[in-house]
Amino acid sequence: MKAKIAVLAGDGIGPEVTTQAQRVLQVIADNWDHTFEFEDALVGGAAIDAVGDPLPDSTLKTCRESDAVLFGAIGGPKWDDPNAKIRPEQGLLRLRRGLDAFANIRPVKPHPDLLEAAPLKADRLENVDLVVVRELTGGIYFGKKTRDADRATDECAYSVPEIERIVRVAARIAADRSGQLTSVDKANVLETSRLWRATTERVIRDEFPQVRLEHVLVDAAAMHLLQKPAAFDVIVTENMFGDILTDEASVLAGSMGLLPSASLSDDGPGLYEPIHGSAPDIAGLGIANPYAAILSASMLLRHSLKLEEEADVVERAVWRVIHEGVLTTDLAGEGKRSVNTQAAGDAVCEIVATST
Ligand code: NAI
Ligand code: MG
Repeated sequence: MKAKIAVLAGDGIGPEVTTQAQRVLQVIADNWDHTFEFEDALVGGAAIDAVGDPLPDSTLKTCRESDAVLFGAIGGPKWDDPNAKIRPEQGLLRLRRGLDAFANIRPVKPHPDLLEAAPLKADRLENVDLVVVRELTGGIYFGKKTRDADRATDECAYSVPEIERIVRVAARIAADRSGQLTSVDKANVLETSRLWRATTERVIRDEFPQVRLEHVLVDAAAMHLLQKPAAFDVIVTENMFGDILTDEASVLAGSMGLLPSASLSDDGPGLYEPIHGSAPDIAGLGIANPYAAILSASMLLRHSLKLEEEADVVERAVWRVIHEGVLTTDLAGEGKRSVNTQAAGDAVCEIVATST
């Protein structure tokens, strides 16, 4: 197949890890006879420095004309002045909205060889393999806000179409996995949650008879994620609950350097990025862990290009190099034998190259 991929490497370690992800995609293209046309575009602090705008119009245009967007990370101390009107994060928020990327998907699957480093007891993490699907463009973060001297409000609003489309994304993912879908809300208190629950019930009943739906209140879900994380498969929830639960769930995997994400729209390109930031403390040292970026590229293959087999090959390659002990410092631990970013990328490329 032929595909156009926009590459928005961004700041700090963004370019370092994105380079490795792009290399892996090129190996896939070479081996499976695909043509991936990569186009670099500016975003974040790098774009502020170059043109004074964290998301230049030309970048959004490049993304919209692409099949998928590979994103690194943005931000850093250089642009951190709290009084600055123009900030790198605005670039990412505007990009998500500009692409209408309403479905944020975060798989969490701890590697069995890394369980000892995770904060929960290893036996509790066995068999954890879950996906959180978070609504990303609605809810309280985008509602009307007011602020007086002694009172402030944030409005939380959801429409039926907004709920339907995120539930459909989650249900399709659940149907491809175990068929189990957990919808998280606060229907005992919030009107938006009651609409969420009713809409979810209807969509699943009418369109996904193969999916088993359960509802869990968000406070209970937060507890269950720590008590019995292996009991979850696919979780769907609204924007703010998802923001909090995804951070909680990410801790299960032990390292930020391992977690990929996808943000999908209904018909535009998907946006793929590691969940970590630009890591200014290690930027430029060549020691960043590229696996989250590479796993994001695997999600790109799966969700935007529908190349399931190729996506599996990349995922398995990362799994295998970790098993073989090809670990960057964040995974190996201080003072242990570790490899640099390039060597970690080499190891994945080598396995992918021999996997056809
Ligand atoms: P961070 O994720 O950049 O770093 C947190 C810690 O994890 C640091 O010690 C870092 O060295 C380590 N780390 C992160 N990714 C790693 C990797 N791939 N390999 C090895 N170690 C890794 O979060 P922090 O420090 O809170 O934010 C730094 C900058 O990144 C800020 O400007 C922040 O606004 C931005 N940021 C950007 C995000 C994005 O582009 N989506 C998301 C989160 C933060
Ligand atoms: Mg968050």
